[in-house]
Amino acid sequence: MRSIHNILVTGGAGFIGSHLIQHLVTKYPNYNVVNFDKLTYAGNLENIKSVERASNYTFIKGDILDAQAVTDCMSKHNIDTVVHLAAESHVDRSIEDPNSFLTTNILGTANLLNAFRTRFENGDATLFYHISTDEVFGSLGTEGLFTETTRYDPRSPYSASKAASDHLVSAYHHTYKLPVILSNCSNNYGPNQFPEKLLPLIINNIVEQKPLPIYGDGLNVRDWLYVQDHIEAMDLLIHEAAIGENYNIGGNAEVTNIDLVKMVCNIMDTSLGRCEGESENLITYVTDRKGHDRRYAIDTTKIKTQLNWQASVSLHEGLKKTVNWYLENSDWLENVKTKEYQNYYKKQYSK
Ligand code: NAD
Ligand code: DAU
Repeated sequence: MRSIHNILVTGGAGFIGSHLIQHLVTKYPNYNVVNFDKLTYAGNLENIKSVERASNYTFIKGDILDAQAVTDCMSKHNIDTVVHLAAESHVDRSIEDPNSFLTTNILGTANLLNAFRTRFENGDATLFYHISTDEVFGSLGTEGLFTETTRYDPRSPYSASKAASDHLVSAYHHTYKLPVILSNCSNNYGPNQFPEKLLPLIINNIVEQKPLPIYGDGLNVRDWLYVQDHIEAMDLLIHEAAIGENYNIGGNAEVTNIDLVKMVCNIMDTSLGRCEGESENLITYVTDRKGHDRRYAIDTTKIKTQLNWQASVSLHEGLKKTVNWYLENSDWLENVKTKEYQNYYKKQYSK
């Protein structure tokens, strides 16, 4: 078990970060947890309301592109451990506007590494944990799985920016001996996810009885990981992963987009008391995403063998929990659907 006192989580107001913050603050009352987040359209303090008054929690509104702010934050809070999630994360937005992905995801990561390096060289730092994606490995055919040694082959501006940040993290390990770990995970889903990503978008549109947009032929495959399972894996990696190692994290739940959307339709017809098949009638095939990766799938042997982790929430169970959360938190959904979201949505589906 690594010795941790003051932990900096970047992007802790976003989807995955908010679950990690709640987990760390409540499970480890002896850790000081600092959340550094710019609060972009994807960041939302509502996500972490349950811990906002906890004595071991501090929120700092800041931009990882501001090198001075990053350095000041690390020294003021005597940070020994960094868990880096802050990023621009939506593939479609990266296709529309690559530059914000290149700056935040690459230069922002470099700023964090530089500040962490100074602390490490002064003997004040323990771990830099970088959260990445399976998308850096490219696209699979019908067979095969991504392993930790799969060659990088990013194919969207988003995945290229994440790949670049992964390479920086590894380079700082090799060059400066920084104590880093890295994980590449598959598609997370669960509460607090901004409704631009497939699952919350579909849930929202079923509630509103709007079309359910399926890109291309709907046969692209993703591996779905319930966010709480991801948090359990991250907890293990923070405390036990070997320095310098990378780990793949997946849900063992591969499914085509069309089958996934049909599962959600069935669950929601029941929860909303609608007739069987009513939501499926909203399915609408739309123009495919440019360069749409066909299939992602993860080999989780390494994390299973070394750290005894595997996903515990089945896809059906996870989808039911997710749907229930969105139905019970309709205020959350209304609050995040700001003008910016309405404009994005209109632009996205008027093509
Ligand atoms: P998200 O978009 O929900 O949240 C990102 C958070 O980062 C937001 O709170 C945002 O305000 C913050 N942020 C963005 N730019 C910032 C900046 N310049 N300075 C400070 N904060 C900034 O993202 P997510 O889905 O929670 O993903 C978190 C991380 O996990 C990302 O690095 C992403 O690449 C990675 N990841 C996500 C998934 C997934 O399925 N969601 C899968 C694999 C990897
Ligand atoms: O694989 C991990 C990645 O998963 C993360 O690194 C990204 O941050 C995260 O956004 C996610 O990327 P995807 O592109 O796979 O997720 P998204 O929810 O945008 O899309 C999932 C699939 O659904 C994908 O094949 C595209 C398709 N899709 C998406 C949307 C938004 C549709 O068919 N219709 C849609 O409206």
